[in-house]
Amino acid sequence: MIVKIPEYIQSIEPYKPGKPVEELAREYGIQHAIKLASNENPLGPSPMAVQAISLALSNLHRYPDGRGHDLTVKLSCRLGFSPDHFVLGNGSDDLIGMLTRALLQPGDEAIIPKPSFLMYEIDVRSAGAIPVHVPLRSLAICAKDILERVTSRTRMIFICNPNNPTGAVMSRNDFKSFIEVLPLGIVVVVDEAYMEFVRDPDCVNSMEFIHGDRPVVALRTFSKAYGLAGLRIGYGVMAPELAGILHRIRQPFNASLLAQVGAVAALEDEAFLNKTIQAVHEGLNYLYAELDRIGIRYFPTQANFFLIDAGRNADMVFENMLRKGVIVRSMSSYGYPEYIRVNTGLPEENKRLIQALEQVL
Ligand SMILES: Cc1ncc(COP(=O)(O)O)c(C=O)c1O
Repeated sequence: MIVKIPEYIQSIEPYKPGKPVEELAREYGIQHAIKLASNENPLGPSPMAVQAISLALSNLHRYPDGRGHDLTVKLSCRLGFSPDHFVLGNGSDDLIGMLTRALLQPGDEAIIPKPSFLMYEIDVRSAGAIPVHVPLRSLAICAKDILERVTSRTRMIFICNPNNPTGAVMSRNDFKSFIEVLPLGIVVVVDEAYMEFVRDPDCVNSMEFIHGDRPVVALRTFSKAYGLAGLRIGYGVMAPELAGILHRIRQPFNASLLAQVGAVAALEDEAFLNKTIQAVHEGLNYLYAELDRIGIRYFPTQANFFLIDAGRNADMVFENMLRKGVIVRSMSSYGYPEYIRVNTGLPEENKRLIQALEQVL
């Protein structure tokens, strides 16, 4: 190529999303496939969000409110932080990108547990910074191991809680002792994309630490529990000084008009949220029981997805499941060559998953 691309950009591995159902139909001619690979909400979108969005369609010729006033005020009332603590994003992915752009310079280090959500590494490397990987211990993020990797060049630490892809959480005690000894000035980004599904009462909620002397950023999304992954809306909660920096560098209209309207309505839709959480917990209970019955090893989760030990090549299991019309995620690129990740679906989808697993394994 004539254009000179920096080596740190060229070496980035592209994010591989879960396979869309439509692609399966195109490539394999398989109709009526089910997708349990992207941790989406099987119940669909929040009905109140859909209704609010349809009413807002006639305003599509207008730019959205760049600061997202209505949604920010609603979140502010809900969560008890003044509006200047919030930054909205085109999904929480957008916040991860803004934070790395704002905080990292080439040569800086960002600590990333491994395996974890793949976008942290992509965004850190895009900024020319160095991802410092800290392996999980028994599938969980270990705060002590992270502390050992902190250097004078560390600027950010990512904690995915619950961790994607393992579903493990960090306890409040571990998090508290961790940030108490962390050098001042390192930003701890706690990605809580799946927090609504957590059942473990010891799990830390990072919002409790936003007002502390260590900079903590909580990331949340409407993509999972609210069923709005296709709409693209998420947010970060952080100290107003840091939020002010992100407001300077974000795209002026990064949260679309429909996304803002949909998210405001989704927050009101408590019936849908509760139904979703119940469906996920019932789905997990069913899947655990069935896997126990068949004798397949799995790792219990605090999220809406979990790992299954296929006991054989996960890429092949993924392919064989595809042929049965069930899309799962192979964990080989996450460093688990024999694990797959599945999320809970509707009861009939969960049943199909089990039937397919019984045949394939
Ligand atoms: C841990 C984690 N963080 C962030 C995201 C991105 O979410 P959003 O759709 O809000 O960009 C995902 C999506 O799968 C995720 O698993």
